[in-house]
Amino acid sequence: MEKLVITGGNALHGTVPISGAKNAALPLMCASLLSDEPLTLENLPRLADITTLTDLLNHLGVTVTIEGGKGGRMTGRNLTFDAKNINDTVAPYDIVRKMRASILVLGPLVARAGEAIVSLPGGCAIGNRPIDLHLKALEKLGAKIDVEQGYVRASAPEGLKGGRVRFPFVSVGATENILMAASLAKGTTIIENAAREPEIADLAACLNAMGARIKDAGHETITVEGVDRLHGATHAVMPDRIEAGSYAVAALMTRGDLLLEGARADDMQATLDTLADAGGIVSVEEDGVRIKSNGHVKGFNLVTQPFPGFATDMQAQFMALACVAEGASVITEAIFENRFMHVSELCRLGADITVTGSSATVRGARFLKGAPVMATDLRASMGLALAGLVAEGETHVNRLYHLDRGYERLEEKLRAVGANVDRVPG
Ligand code: EPZ
Repeated sequence: MEKLVITGGNALHGTVPISGAKNAALPLMCASLLSDEPLTLENLPRLADITTLTDLLNHLGVTVTIEGGKGGRMTGRNLTFDAKNINDTVAPYDIVRKMRASILVLGPLVARAGEAIVSLPGGCAIGNRPIDLHLKALEKLGAKIDVEQGYVRASAPEGLKGGRVRFPFVSVGATENILMAASLAKGTTIIENAAREPEIADLAACLNAMGARIKDAGHETITVEGVDRLHGATHAVMPDRIEAGSYAVAALMTRGDLLLEGARADDMQATLDTLADAGGIVSVEEDGVRIKSNGHVKGFNLVTQPFPGFATDMQAQFMALACVAEGASVITEAIFENRFMHVSELCRLGADITVTGSSATVRGARFLKGAPVMATDLRASMGLALAGLVAEGETHVNRLYHLDRGYERLEEKLRAVGANVDRVPG
């Protein structure tokens, strides 16, 4: 297995091109199942999760072809997904177990093909990741749901019917699944307490380009007028707000100055506000967002929340920042039950962190010392890489496959702005 070898101490300066968003790309790819005409997605990032989902879509009968990229700022690939012939409605365990977002084929498949049999995703490092909200919402649209032998079977041979779905708490994936299913349901669907993450609006924009009739995506209540069929479209994936936020933290931690090219400030306001609390100088420019250090990092407090609150996917990165802040920080993880796996690894670098329940108190301003550390999940591994950028000496981040799931060309982008980082065989 490969690892990152990082020698800390360099301030990062320059421009980081932000890739298409993983968490927008995955549901967008599943949306291709809703139509018998091709869907072209532009600016897709080159990530392991995209490859895994492409394998699953191929298994279901979707043909995927690479289109020439437009070049320029959009560094991603353009892929065309043609679901004209769906010849299987089973998403098998050996693919789904690799990536829980595979559950996002459930809604589109049952809406288009009248049936979907999807392996239960199972948990992952950050929690047991249930899908009860997905299933209850599909039942509200008339799907019959059975769970047996580790698989969910959803069937609606007569098609789905519009209905009222009210989520007891916010779920990004469940909102996305029901948004896609409702697009082809007969009648109107009202989704209440919907997730408001920017990726939801991006998905709705693509579905509407395909002929769906969705109103108020990105707000708490979304209305969907079902249509008989969806046609093909071309849609550019939105920039990755979590990748952008991760590099923004790098700029502040290393006392540098980075332009996050293509980043959209409105997608990441809570992140930018917390960076400013910690001493960052944030400026919105024509081609992106710039983060400069004022030479100091102050302690801060944060609680993870659904959008527009502070993103749970940014928690590990900010914990790394807190490790080198002057003063103490209190970080509370209110979304996932086990998203502090990076704490013990950061302590191996000399951090001073105490966890009490869902809160971590970080006493900062300690000098971190490089050491071998183990990545446990995608965002935790980015937190460790960030800590390695400021730790004295070498930090070896092992199990790089976690990072490769969500960060495109990480070492290349870091080296381009002055980091001393290499990918070497583990
Ligand atoms: C999406 O996961 C993201 N993944 C996650 O990013 C992100 O952390 C999460 O949203 C929260 O923002 C993708 O978009 C592919 P949820 P999702 O349903 O949809 C519980 C990353 O690092 N829940 O909003 O799975 C759940 O356990 C990944 O890129 C239920 O109880 O998240 C969690 O505690 C990690 N029942 C909370 O709700 C359900 O049916 C929020 O989960 C569904 C969720």
